[in-house]
Amino acid sequence: MTTDRAPLLDGSPKMRAILTIIENIADTDATVLIRGESGVGKDLVARAIHAQSGRRAGPFVKVNCAAIPPGLLESELFGHEKGAFTGAHRRKPGQFEYAHGGTLYLDEIAELPLALQAKLLHVLQDFRFTLVGGQRELAVEARVIAATNRDLERALTRGEFREDLYYRLNVVELRIPPLRERREEIPKLAEWFLARFNAQYGRQKQLTPETLVRLSQHPWSGNVRELENAVRRMVLLTDGEQVFEAQVAHGRTGQAAAPGPARLVTESLREIARRGAREAERKALAEVLERVRWNRAAASRILKVSYKTLLNKIAACELTSPARRVV
Ligand SMILES: Nc1ncnc2c1ncn2[C@@H]1O[C@H](COP(=O)(O)OP(=O)(O)OP(=O)(O)O)[C@@H](O)[C@H]1O
Ligand SMILES: [Mg+2]
Repeated sequence: MTTDRAPLLDGSPKMRAILTIIENIADTDATVLIRGESGVGKDLVARAIHAQSGRRAGPFVKVNCAAIPPGLLESELFGHEKGAFTGAHRRKPGQFEYAHGGTLYLDEIAELPLALQAKLLHVLQDFRFTLVGGQRELAVEARVIAATNRDLERALTRGEFREDLYYRLNVVELRIPPLRERREEIPKLAEWFLARFNAQYGRQKQLTPETLVRLSQHPWSGNVRELENAVRRMVLLTDGEQVFEAQVAHGRTGQAAAPGPARLVTESLREIARRGAREAERKALAEVLERVRWNRAAASRILKVSYKTLLNKIAACELTSPARRVV
């Protein structure tokens, strides 16, 4: 077995369900849309579909739509004729043409400019297109797989992504869950990366059971890619495990409860400010009400709000007067 192959796509019930779908659709030419956070393994899934399809002997061509300047993307995808633009000294085939007989994997599809979305939709109808700056029509025979980590539905409502293209790509949708929702895979993945990096860097590192436990509990907002890099560091650095432990410990002391870190990171500054303001308001309200023995008219005068506003605030903060408190 070569070490750059990833045989670990079946480590959890969620991933096994995805594998079953892959088996069912690999041999069809259905377009597949792969969704999931960054680092969950979308590229691996795309390759797995290709590898299980009748096209496995053909090319697997990946185009990262976010990595190519928008102005060059059309020629990158569909190629250009000689003289199509300044600097086009010869005819250049596009990635669609290179994918003939195989699979074209369009990564970060949400980054495709609207004009190109229209052209792609058109091409997906009959797999015929013209090269940039040309007249001749070309026909290719390829399967298209697209992937994104963006909220495509939101892009639709904002008019950033064409609805017709969305439905055309979305014949089969595979949602790859984040690693924190399939934690049972972590020990196996960690051991697998360990073996791979030990072989690659000529080391004999072992992971202690404590480290494995910590790895299993870590939130992994960067998903499998983050885990892979964490294990790589542990193999490369003499004190790699301690470095990880220190990072984890640091994350924990900064947090009150266990599942905290992921929440803190995803909360925007505005939300944090709002929450802080709400808490401060609640505290002041409770103090004043206590002081005036829940005389609401007096409290509203002290807090300089109308009686009605005060009642609303009391309800919003879920404060109850001692008289009505259930003991
Ligand atoms: N099940 C797995 N087994 C082994 N390695 C994996 C697995 N899943 C992901 N990886 C590794 O994690 C890294 C990220 O995976 P991949 O590039 O497929 O993620 P992605 O979802 O395409 O991320 P992005 O949205 O950033 O493009 C890769 O190095 C890949 O080899
Ligand atoms: Mg990817």
